[in-house]
Amino acid sequence: MSQDQQALTAKHGLTKIPRHVAIIMDGNGRWAAKRGLPRLAGHRAGVENIQRVLEGCADYGVKVLTIYAFSTENWSRPQEEVQGLLRILEEVIDRRTQEFHEKGVQLRHIGQLEGLSESLKAKVRYAIDLTKNNDKGILNIAFNYGGRSEIVEAARRIIQAGIAPESLDENLFSRYLYTAGLPDPDLIIRTAGEMRLSNYLIWQAAYAEYYSTPTLWPDFDKQEFYKALQAYSQRVRRFGGLEGV
Ligand code: IPE
Ligand code: IPE
Ligand code: MG
Repeated sequence: MSQDQQALTAKHGLTKIPRHVAIIMDGNGRWAAKRGLPRLAGHRAGVENIQRVLEGCADYGVKVLTIYAFSTENWSRPQEEVQGLLRILEEVIDRRTQEFHEKGVQLRHIGQLEGLSESLKAKVRYAIDLTKNNDKGILNIAFNYGGRSEIVEAARRIIQAGIAPESLDENLFSRYLYTAGLPDPDLIIRTAGEMRLSNYLIWQAAYAEYYSTPTLWPDFDKQEFYKALQAYSQRVRRFGGLEGV
């Protein structure tokens, strides 16, 4: 652990801090239903909440945050919800990119850009390009993302590159995933109580610690984030061996 990190863990009463946290932001619909609001109001509140957790990452020294914003399976929702959700995400990219840039956050995208509107694709590409040299933290947005299709896509590109079967190993395979160059998630948080991955980072999650909370995503504030980090701090990670870290 670096000295900076040691100071941060001590300051916050944590024993270790995940380098990479990945969140399944679930429960927007239930949050809206509880208030008698349309589902899209929940998605709006959910997207606004990203900011709070990103601040938490900066405070506690988490360098990489990956958030699940739209899965390949979410296309099966009613068209009105899908279109509304994509519109909200586009608006937010538009509105917040400059602010992220000023804070030194690097924006990345994992998932397929194909299938999205031209204007959304252009905004995503602009945000990635503008922030590519920033080094204060990485906000990685899983958007039109599916874990299985990511693996199939990687296999396809490996074949296309003419990689010899005997030279393929796990490290090389990882370099063909959308997350190439990023550490695997140490901690995966799911809000709204569900206990499943829903096709999220299924390769990368092999040794992640899981944390599930009944709190709905729009209510998941910095305090809730801290609780997840506290739980992580208490986990003993053995990676198949006997010595815990
Ligand atoms: C998560 O909230 C956001 C997305 C899947 C895009 P949901 O929309 O799944 O909310 P619930 O699960 O219906 O409460
Ligand atoms: C997972 O949530 C996808 C995102 C958070 C974007 P879902 O609400 O789509 O997951 P399921 O359908 O309950 O598994
Ligand atoms: Mg859901």
